[in-house]
Amino acid sequence: MKKRYWLVASFWAGMTLLVACESKKAESTQASSDSLKIEQTAFGKISDSTQATLYTLKNANGMEVKISDFGGTIVSWTAPNKDGKYEDITLGCDSLAGYQKGVPYFGALIGRYGNRIAKGQFTLEGKTYTLAKNNGANALHGGLKGFDKVLWTATPIAGEEPALKLTYTAKDGEEGYPGSLSIEVTYTLTKDNSLKIDYKATTDKATVVNLTNHAYFNLKGGLNSDILDHEVTLNADKFLPVDNTLIPTGELRPVAGTPFDFTKPFKIGARINDTKDEQIKFGLGYDHCWVLSDSSSNLKLAATVTEPSSGRVLEVFTTEPAIQFYTGNFLDGTITGKGGTIYKHRFGLCLETQHYPDSPNQAKFPTTVLKPGQTYQTSTVYKFSVKK
Ligand code: GLA
Repeated sequence: MKKRYWLVASFWAGMTLLVACESKKAESTQASSDSLKIEQTAFGKISDSTQATLYTLKNANGMEVKISDFGGTIVSWTAPNKDGKYEDITLGCDSLAGYQKGVPYFGALIGRYGNRIAKGQFTLEGKTYTLAKNNGANALHGGLKGFDKVLWTATPIAGEEPALKLTYTAKDGEEGYPGSLSIEVTYTLTKDNSLKIDYKATTDKATVVNLTNHAYFNLKGGLNSDILDHEVTLNADKFLPVDNTLIPTGELRPVAGTPFDFTKPFKIGARINDTKDEQIKFGLGYDHCWVLSDSSSNLKLAATVTEPSSGRVLEVFTTEPAIQFYTGNFLDGTITGKGGTIYKHRFGLCLETQHYPDSPNQAKFPTTVLKPGQTYQTSTVYKFSVKK
């Protein structure tokens, strides 16, 4: 008993030493103040020998983003309201145990293929690959153990714009996908209150890749109310209608004259229950992919969300061609999140930048195939400001 206690103590002493070394290095290379060091805390046990860690990125304004190496998950993120008060604006859990119970991808990195692949199957270079059907008849968000449930290797990079680099290598055949895929995701908290996410991947065999982040935002503060009063603009004049299992039909439908027209700001609640529209019925609200009007791979403004009472504004910029706008329609009050808050129906909204769902089966959609020798590279920026 005594011996075991000593072992644990020495493990933690080692950890402390490690943290101290890391900080020293940062001090010698950066003129950053003490408060900008990347704090590391234990987040929970994955197994007897593996711990998850929580990294806190802070900027000089006071924005704080906590990210775990488990699932590359954004666990919390503070943003100022019009009075300068920083409050958490993302749904999540207090510790690893909450995520392990199974939550719908709160803040997590999603891959190898974000969104749905019809019937969990696709054919690439003449070979048919079978994936787990974890969403009715379809495959969703990388499978039973997608990138949201693996432990990433984290490298904190301290500085005025602190960053966390996460790497993971998915095996050939992992969750049914071909090719060993080496992924690098870097989260950077900038001086202007943006979180930039840079995704990179290479493969040793032809495969399909569609990486994203699944943060649920609620800009009001408190994370204890629905998002129906949030005003949304999407720079997209078309969206992808789906069948009743949420697989795109292949059509790119103009949003004009439908509840999907967010080319000008609309309150989410204004048309979300417009079930005369079959697409609203299928999505149980909004759970669709919008095709950005600017189809280039430049970093362009895709979405703006404003919450009038707090004044918080979120802008989403991306190099991706599309964005899944999901309004938390499956949240039903069965999950207790941070600080004991119960996450009820539509308490969070997601803006998942990505390629189109089911692209591996839809030849007319922009390709998601990655071949050896190519580098998958995308960036998304979530920027906060206030409107007084
Ligand atoms: C995605 C999907 C939704 C739902 C959520 C998680 O965004 O599009 O249908 O599965 O993830 O609950």
